Amino acid sequence: MFKVVVKDTYEEVSSEAFKVMKEVLSQDKPVLGLATGSSPVGLYKKMIADHNSNGTSYKDILTWNLDEYVGIPRSHDQSYWTFMHENLFDHIDIPDENVHVPLGETDDLEASCKAYEESMEGHQIDLQVLGIGSDGHIAFNEPGTPFDSLTHVMDLTEQTRKDNARFFGDDISQVPTQAVTMGLASIMKAKKIIVIATGANKAEAVKGMLQGPVTTDCPASILQNHPDVCVFLDKEAASLL
Ligand code: F6R
Repeated sequence: MFKVVVKDTYEEVSSEAFKVMKEVLSQDKPVLGLATGSSPVGLYKKMIADHNSNGTSYKDILTWNLDEYVGIPRSHDQSYWTFMHENLFDHIDIPDENVHVPLGETDDLEASCKAYEESMEGHQIDLQVLGIGSDGHIAFNEPGTPFDSLTHVMDLTEQTRKDNARFFGDDISQVPTQAVTMGLASIMKAKKIIVIATGANKAEAVKGMLQGPVTTDCPASILQNHPDVCVFLDKEAASLL
C-alpha cells in the first residue's frame, strides 16, 4: 500500500522522508536499508544534521546497502562504498562493523552475492530507502528481473549507464557495465519502504510504479504488493499521475 506525498522542492521532499526516518531511528536498534545516487543525499544531510544537533546515535544501528558496481575497488571515488562514507557514514557514529555494502570487486561474485544475502538473514530491515531509475529499476534490478530474485549480478541497461555517466565525467565508457544488487525479493522483505524521486525524467517510472500493471517491465511496480511504502515526490516526478 502506498502513501504518496508531493512537495514543491527537493528540500521539502527530503524533510518529509526524514520524518519517517526519524521515527524509525527512535525504535530500539533499528536496521536500515540504504541507497546511493542523488535521490537520498538530502535525507542523509538531514540525518547528519540531526546527529550533530540532537546527538542521535547510530552506535547500535545496522545498515545494508542495496548495490555496488562490479569491477571497481572500494577505494575508487565512484564506488558506492566511497559514496556512503562521504555522504553519511563518515559523519555519524556508526561503527565500521555495522555497515554492509556488497563487494563489487572479488574473484567470486556468485559466492559474494550469496554471502551478502546470508548476512541479512535474521536482520529484517525496518526501513528501506529507495530511489528509482528512469527505466523503473529499484536497486539495480533492471527491467526483466524476476520478482523472486535475491542478491545477484545485473547487467546495467544503456539507459542506466547514460543516467549515471554524470558521476563518471559524463563519459559512458567509464560507467561499469554490471552491478551486484539486492534482488526484488530481498527488498520486499523490508518492514517499511520509502521511495524518493524528483525531476521530470522520473515521471514515467513513477507512474509505472504507482499506477501501472505489476510487471517485470517496471521492476518498481512490485512495490504495489508491499504493505507499507511511502513515496516522496516533487511536482515534476508526479506530473504524470
Ligand atoms: C542506488 C540505486 C539506484 C538509484 C537509482 C536512482 O543505490 O539502487 O536504484 O536509486 O538509479 O538514482 P538517482 O537517485 O541518482 O537518480
